[in-house]
Amino acid sequence: MEKTLIIVTHPKLGSSKINKRWIQELQKYPDKYIIHDLHSTYPTLEIDVIKEQLLLESVNKIVLQFPFYWFNCPPFLKKWIDDVLTHGWAFGKNSGYKLAGKKFALAVTAGIKEDDYRASGQYEYTLEELTRPFETTFKYVNADYRPLYAFYGEEHNPTQEDIEANAKGYINFIENL
Ligand SMILES: Cc1cc2nc3c(=O)[nH]c(=O)nc-3n(C[C@H](O)[C@H](O)[C@H](O)COP(=O)(O)O)c2cc1C
Repeated sequence: MEKTLIIVTHPKLGSSKINKRWIQELQKYPDKYIIHDLHSTYPTLEIDVIKEQLLLESVNKIVLQFPFYWFNCPPFLKKWIDDVLTHGWAFGKNSGYKLAGKKFALAVTAGIKEDDYRASGQYEYTLEELTRPFETTFKYVNADYRPLYAFYGEEHNPTQEDIEANAKGYINFIENL
């Protein structure tokens, strides 16, 4: 069975609650998911671009999992995108578009609660709107950009039940991508 690649970028995974719980859930299904933790793979932040490109070529479903930092992804994921989606491989005439047709989705954890990510809420814009640069990037390379999955309100004392249900929902989300 073909595996889904989960690219995790969390600068402080050791002190994480939600991303760590998501990873624990993914680890229950080693035959289904390749968990690729960028910070532990590249502690010096030097990316092996060819290795990353070959890994991406080997799968058809990719999830980018990260905590929302200043309404964006952590910087190492941005660097990964800048370094790995090269001209002549990800886009460009003749040899490019190696990601064409592959499913890409974001799985984002947010400190802020969902009510505040609404037109009527404190921060006005939804996570879907705030992540439009990802949507546009993956459309640019002809990938199949899917709706995102989220955990909202980590800073508002979520219950253990909420965290558990969300972790189970994450697996369901990936399976239905
Ligand atoms: C530097 C920094 C910036 C953050 N910016 C945001 C933000 O813009 N929006 C938000 O909802 N939460 C923000 N947060 C909260 C984190 O997203 C939240 O703590 C994290 O997603 C929880 O997941 P974890 O338990 O796996 O760390 C920020 C946290 C840090 C450390």
